[in-house]
Amino acid sequence: MEKMWSGRFSASASSLLDQFNASIMFDRELYREDIEGSLAHAAMLQSRGILSVDEIEAIRGGLAQVREEIEAGSFEWNISDEDLHMAIEKRLTALIGDAGKKLHTARSRNDQVAVDFRRYVLRKNLEIAGQLKTLMQTLIDIAGKHTETLLPGMTHLQHAQPINFGFHLLAYASMFKRDIDRLLSSRQRNNVSPLGCAALAGTPHDIDRNLTANALGFDSVSVNCLDTVSDRDFALEILFNISTMMMHVSRLSEELILWSSYEFGFVELSDEYSTGSSIMPQKKNPDVPELLRGKTGRVYGALMGLLTVMKGLPLAYNKDTQEDKEGVFDAVTTAHISLEILNEALKTMTVKPENMLAASKKGHLSATDLADYLVERCGVPFREAHFITGKAVARAEALGIDLSEIAYGELKAIDERIGEDVIPHLQLAHSMNARTSSGGTATVRTLEQIVHFENYLKELDL
Ligand code: ARG
Repeated sequence: MEKMWSGRFSASASSLLDQFNASIMFDRELYREDIEGSLAHAAMLQSRGILSVDEIEAIRGGLAQVREEIEAGSFEWNISDEDLHMAIEKRLTALIGDAGKKLHTARSRNDQVAVDFRRYVLRKNLEIAGQLKTLMQTLIDIAGKHTETLLPGMTHLQHAQPINFGFHLLAYASMFKRDIDRLLSSRQRNNVSPLGCAALAGTPHDIDRNLTANALGFDSVSVNCLDTVSDRDFALEILFNISTMMMHVSRLSEELILWSSYEFGFVELSDEYSTGSSIMPQKKNPDVPELLRGKTGRVYGALMGLLTVMKGLPLAYNKDTQEDKEGVFDAVTTAHISLEILNEALKTMTVKPENMLAASKKGHLSATDLADYLVERCGVPFREAHFITGKAVARAEALGIDLSEIAYGELKAIDERIGEDVIPHLQLAHSMNARTSSGGTATVRTLEQIVHFENYLKELDL
């Protein structure tokens, strides 16, 4: 089959080359962007007198039909057409004749693919941010029901201080908020039109880049064409942003897996989002968070892959760049399904406050409160208070009880400056609610954090 670029060749391409060179199997994902880009380009060419009114009408009709054929599944995708851009142009020309051949005036596939892929990525920034908004709302809703539900806050995966479950979930809401901000700022930074850069150096045709930029929803036109046709920072940014977002998803997943174990028993995932074992009839497995954790690795792979593809490329366009798309498509698809299923798994899980409370009674979570009491009420320097409290913990251990259950007499025996008013300080709820510093876990502060995130979501224009 004759190639569009075959003019200077005397032998036809081997079918092995066709297979190796083609991107048509995956870049068809960009068909909407490609057709819209061509429509904007054609309208601009017509406004500059490069296309006639009849020609633009023919192009519009032809591209509408191409679009219908693609959407109906009747479009013929041939590997020998190499990529989506040439397949569409070829079909257009078959449909409308010579006007189709004029469409590529003042355009190269280099700016064409740059505009298509960039618009796809900009759109996906918004769609993923929208899903994160839904996920944040779910976390906030669950948090709102658990601002007094005690659980052990941990460091080193060891019991540390009592916190409430709402506060714990809002930590994830904070991460997902930053993920939204990153996606939106990337969109802002990269919202410049490559169209009109042509192959690398611009074009002698009297084009209007602002016209196509406006028509395609870009904020402005790119400044330097040589950069523009080889810039894939926008793709790297979405890969980094999805990777970071998936890292957060993975951390939450890891906790869901731990929390669903018998050892923790803090939550139970719904039957709808749990799986069984083929041999052990009793099993209920957290496959959803496990897969979310696993898929995170695959997304990192896409980021590392593209960074590596780009690192040695001389200016400007090189075919290596064609390797930019599959990783991004895969990462975006992974992000979409991951956020959707995580949201459902969270909405349908059962929280078990009684088990969280039982766990909170292990590990002397209010030990820091005893030290703080000695500092505040007895004027003991913190380092000494820490030592005295250590003795009290050792005593509680010897008695086989938690520090929150120790009798006043035991404490007085350790240090007689300790007054009877210490007892409420050792209670777990008291300890949690004592942490009233800004951003702390106290229920009042947790409720403020909920308001903060609710306001953020209200102002988000997604
Ligand atoms: N299929 C190519 C890609 O995805 C399109 C641009 C090709 N340009 C070229 N001059 N070979 O990168």
